[in-house]
Amino acid sequence: MATEKFDVVDLIRTKRDHGVLGTAEIDWLIDAYTRGYVADEQMAALAMAILLNGMSRDEIRDLTLAMIASGERMDFSGLGKPTVDKHSTGGVGDKITLPLMPLVAAFGVAVPQLSGRGLGHTGGTLDKLESIPGWRASLTNEEIFAQLASVNGVICAAGSGLAPADKKLYALRDITGTVEAIPLIASSIMSKKIAEGTESLVLDVKFGSGAFMQDIDLSRELARTMVDLGNDAGVRTTALLTNMNVPLGLAIGNANEVRESVEVLQGGGPADVVELTVALAAEMLRLAGQPDADVAEALRDGRAMDSWNRVIRAQGGDPTAALPVARETETVLAPRSGVLLRQDALAFGIAAWRLGAGRARAQDPVQHAAGIDLHAKPGDHVVEGQPLFTLSADDGSRFARAFESLEGAYDIGAPSEYPGAAPLVAERIS
Ligand code: URA
Repeated sequence: MATEKFDVVDLIRTKRDHGVLGTAEIDWLIDAYTRGYVADEQMAALAMAILLNGMSRDEIRDLTLAMIASGERMDFSGLGKPTVDKHSTGGVGDKITLPLMPLVAAFGVAVPQLSGRGLGHTGGTLDKLESIPGWRASLTNEEIFAQLASVNGVICAAGSGLAPADKKLYALRDITGTVEAIPLIASSIMSKKIAEGTESLVLDVKFGSGAFMQDIDLSRELARTMVDLGNDAGVRTTALLTNMNVPLGLAIGNANEVRESVEVLQGGGPADVVELTVALAAEMLRLAGQPDADVAEALRDGRAMDSWNRVIRAQGGDPTAALPVARETETVLAPRSGVLLRQDALAFGIAAWRLGAGRARAQDPVQHAAGIDLHAKPGDHVVEGQPLFTLSADDGSRFARAFESLEGAYDIGAPSEYPGAAPLVAERIS
């Protein structure tokens, strides 16, 4: 039997005692964990030590590279056009990938969006797109390449060959209270994005109640860590820090988020969704060598919409087909007149999830028509009795738990009490 290079208990003790692991130790650790030599309980102890004591920049880089090396690395250099991707750390009503990908693809840049499914209160891009009849999330590497060559854009499931060490480690972190560690989040996200083979990457790092990190300082630290990881690995990377205290747009769910995305692609849609789509598209095109691209014009003149129709059809979807509609709805009316002061993103995200728009376990299906449609946003004047929001579900027994989440989630007050809208894009990190 081949002898192992290191003893995992020594590595755990090193991190427990605030020490630093070397490149060879981290390479061995990730390889030994992937092949099952290092046990889950040992990796969990190490993850907790990292959560409590942190990692140096070199350790985070080594961990990311070791996770990339655990699987395949895609290569789009043969496409003959720039490649650029976007990753969001996840939020409520965050459908931005849907209008963004075809918008950027309309400028002749290839956008390989290898995405995930929703877990918990933040939605998943693949779940949203699966509301479209016929649309297919699973593509082979050859299909991804061919679609990028023909229509410049693809949104599909990341294959199991991409950073398998991260897949195993993320599942373990999920059940051991070790998700919220910046070195582990940064290496997890960036190992997948670097292995995906994009030349440039824009990160939408969210902060606020509906985000992974509530605190802007922690979000900034996460963004800085990921931007450095990407640039060190040769991927041009920048980040926008964006506000997630209020749901994005008016739709939270799956099919309704597709509907809202199509409105944006038709030149309409809610102002915040348009603003963030345009900001991220401009940033992506800047990295891809088109700093003067007029992205807002491409939304108005139909180029982005044409691009959406092409990419949806390329994956078997019918962009003209009717989207699913829920069997039951409940509309909440304004209890008094005034200004809507607050709309808590986390509470609305949890409510939509409880209605069936999200899943509690990775293997659960989602209900595509379930979700929430907002009829007013903070800052809007409302009149007593006017609709504030509508809940939709296929199963009416879900409403009670959704309403529980919404208790105290919004306030109506005098105009003088409204502090004004916080900027959606708070900072750019490069
Ligand atoms: N998303 C990921 O892919 N990994 C994390 O660790 C957290 C969010």
